[in-house]
Amino acid sequence: MPANCYFVTGTDTDAGKSYVCSILLQGFKALDITAAGVKPIAAGADAQGCNSDALLLRRQSGIALPYDVVNPICYQAPVAPHLAAINEQQPINEATLSQTLASWQQLPIQQLLVEGAGGWLLPISNERYLADWVAEHQLPVVLVVGMKLGCLNHAMLTVREIARSGCTLVGWVANCIDPDMALLPQNIADLQQRISTPCLGVVPYDPEDQTQLGVNLARNLLKTSGRNIS
Ligand SMILES: Nc1ncnc2c1ncn2[C@@H]1O[C@H](COP(=O)(O)OP(=O)(O)O)[C@@H](O)[C@H]1O
Ligand SMILES: [Mg+2]
Repeated sequence: MPANCYFVTGTDTDAGKSYVCSILLQGFKALDITAAGVKPIAAGADAQGCNSDALLLRRQSGIALPYDVVNPICYQAPVAPHLAAINEQQPINEATLSQTLASWQQLPIQQLLVEGAGGWLLPISNERYLADWVAEHQLPVVLVVGMKLGCLNHAMLTVREIARSGCTLVGWVANCIDPDMALLPQNIADLQQRISTPCLGVVPYDPEDQTQLGVNLARNLLKTSGRNIS
């Protein structure tokens, strides 16, 4: 059976997409569900040409995957990928991305998390956005809201744009990236009443028990996608 796939986007770069994916992958592992995390496009690489997000996802995946499978497109410079693509003379080829998605879905895994890059409207060429590719493949979307001042605007812009793109938002995660955010519970409650899809959970700042958090997030994700587990 093809892997059940989610596209994980965020309100912005540094919202915590990788962090939340890592927690979800730990949760799947604890639930004995084979899952993998992948990063189709990354910008910013170490001396070996590896991106830190992709390395984290690879480490937390329940199956050993070659680096190039986890992250097929990686630019050296930590800049907007479509601009890196020009400088590094390696355009982002959507057909390749689509073939890669098909091959990911054939991996012997049950759940696949595809981490986006930046926010929802990440340009991949002069005309196209990664969101267009997500819409074309009708990948269910999980939104990570980086909880900080200004996130209500970013979250609602993203939620509206996901809907406008014709994609389905299956759930969102409140990720507390600011340990000192004022009125944090009120901000989360505010988003809960504005966003019609369920909040899969709240990830505190530097949580102690990532596995338990991950189990809860993973259970809620499967539940909201109609894939209930005991
Ligand atoms: N809940 C959290 N508690 C503490 N640090 C966090 C949390 N979420 C994210 N971070 C840190 O914030 C930074 C950005 O998170 P990351 O997951 O890399 O964002 P993104 O993938 O959306 O760009 C990382 O250094 C990460 O470890
Ligand atoms: Mg990331």
